[in-house]
Amino acid sequence: MDSVRIGETVGPKMTDKKCIAVVLAAGEGTRMKSDMPKVLHPIAGRSMLGHVLNTVQEAGITDIAVVIGPNRDDVAAEIHKIAPNASLHIQTERLGTAHAVLAARESVRQGYDEVLVLFADTPLIEPATLLAMRARLSEGNTVVALGFEAQNPHGYGRLLVDGASLVAIREHKDASESERRVTLCNSGLMAIDGKLALGLLDSVENQNTQKEYYLTDIVEIARKASAKTSYETAPESDVLGVNDRTQLAVAEGVLQNRLRKKAMMNGATLADPSTVYFSFDTQLGRDVVVEPNVIFGLNVVIGDKVQIHAFSHIEDASIDSFASVGPFARIRPGSSVGQHAKIGNFVELKKANIGKGAKISHLSYIGDADVGAEANIGAGTITCNYDGFFKYKTVIGEGAFIGANSSLVAPIKIGAGAYVGSGSVITKEVASDQLAVARGKQIAKDGWGAQFRATSEAKKKSGKA
Ligand code: UD1
Ligand code: CA
Repeated sequence: MDSVRIGETVGPKMTDKKCIAVVLAAGEGTRMKSDMPKVLHPIAGRSMLGHVLNTVQEAGITDIAVVIGPNRDDVAAEIHKIAPNASLHIQTERLGTAHAVLAARESVRQGYDEVLVLFADTPLIEPATLLAMRARLSEGNTVVALGFEAQNPHGYGRLLVDGASLVAIREHKDASESERRVTLCNSGLMAIDGKLALGLLDSVENQNTQKEYYLTDIVEIARKASAKTSYETAPESDVLGVNDRTQLAVAEGVLQNRLRKKAMMNGATLADPSTVYFSFDTQLGRDVVVEPNVIFGLNVVIGDKVQIHAFSHIEDASIDSFASVGPFARIRPGSSVGQHAKIGNFVELKKANIGKGAKISHLSYIGDADVGAEANIGAGTITCNYDGFFKYKTVIGEGAFIGANSSLVAPIKIGAGAYVGSGSVITKEVASDQLAVARGKQIAKDGWGAQFRATSEAKKKSGKA
């Protein structure tokens, strides 16, 4: 299948400079009002920290140090999952961003040409921006900050610049009236000459309003030593910092828009893009059509020319080429839908493998099941897969025909080419090509209706029941 992972960024240029990324993730995130650490909150199905670690790797940086708070096994597990070779450093006291970077001293001192500092709560940064910052270091700068034009600069550090050089970064709380009028703000991300980084960081003092060791102070420290300092810029939406749930929602929106755009650029039609929600890892083939109000959970792979009709929800599943899903279909984890298969309205699949060209057109629950190629599953068919303790499997052979409103009580096998009469409750294996009917036999009594009405009316008239 010729599919493109829609979260993918193509072809960042690598340099031969040895670079380490230091990702700061020790913040407490109190404004999230959450029992989960802030950096583990997901956007498009992946933690903010995970996005940052992934972006760093996409930019070709393999050496990563992450600074985390004490007793954060959950954060450590996430790091291990996304960047297994990253080193972990615990910052026991939160004394500021420079202090946080120094928590990774053991890694930073290993002889790097470049040190890149990122924040785990700034998840939308793009690999190309990291490469641009590194390129600016290569121009002979000792420190390169990443700035952005802020709609509302309040609270941010300000970049005080002179042409291409960065003169200082002033924290909002320490800034003068005129400095506060500057709208070019500090994103927090920084690239530092690796040979000088520790010396600069060790020189930072905490004589400021917040009594913190500011990473931003290394700009002025470097300039006092006659070093060159500069800055790169990025769109504000790329450097959005997430401190609370409203900003989390804004970040989600920005990322969804990126994923929608990429899906369309890669050859999918989205009739109403703003209503389609992707996961970071959704894969779509060419000429896929996605109608409005569709949600893609994690780990979904869609083949070429698939139609996803409105209001469908798909999670941890694959849909092969030319298949059609929905409207109002729910494809739950562990399911696969074969080529040209049809999953119609109000059909739920769970751990079900649907063969090529099979049809489940209306109102069914098919769980823990294999459905053979070209089988036809009638409206309202239910696989009874659960007895309250265990789950059991249903196997339906190729070309079988299951009549409407049948219950298939698992474990059960329906042979290839078999027929199940409508309304059956099937509890015993059906052999290939057999017809199985398991429902009350129809009784026929001629004239019963007229007779019933006559006796009933007579009873009513006499006043006796
Ligand atoms: C920082 C910048 C500011 C910038 C802003 C952008 C400094 C001094 N200021 O300010 O110029 O405009 O980000 O959002 O760098 N962290 C730790 N340990 C610490 C302190 C911070 O890990 O001891 C982490 C936080 O979890 C967070 C990041 O570093 O991810 C930034 O820290 P925060 O306190 O939010 O910095 P700001 O005051 O917002
Ligand atoms: Ca912040």
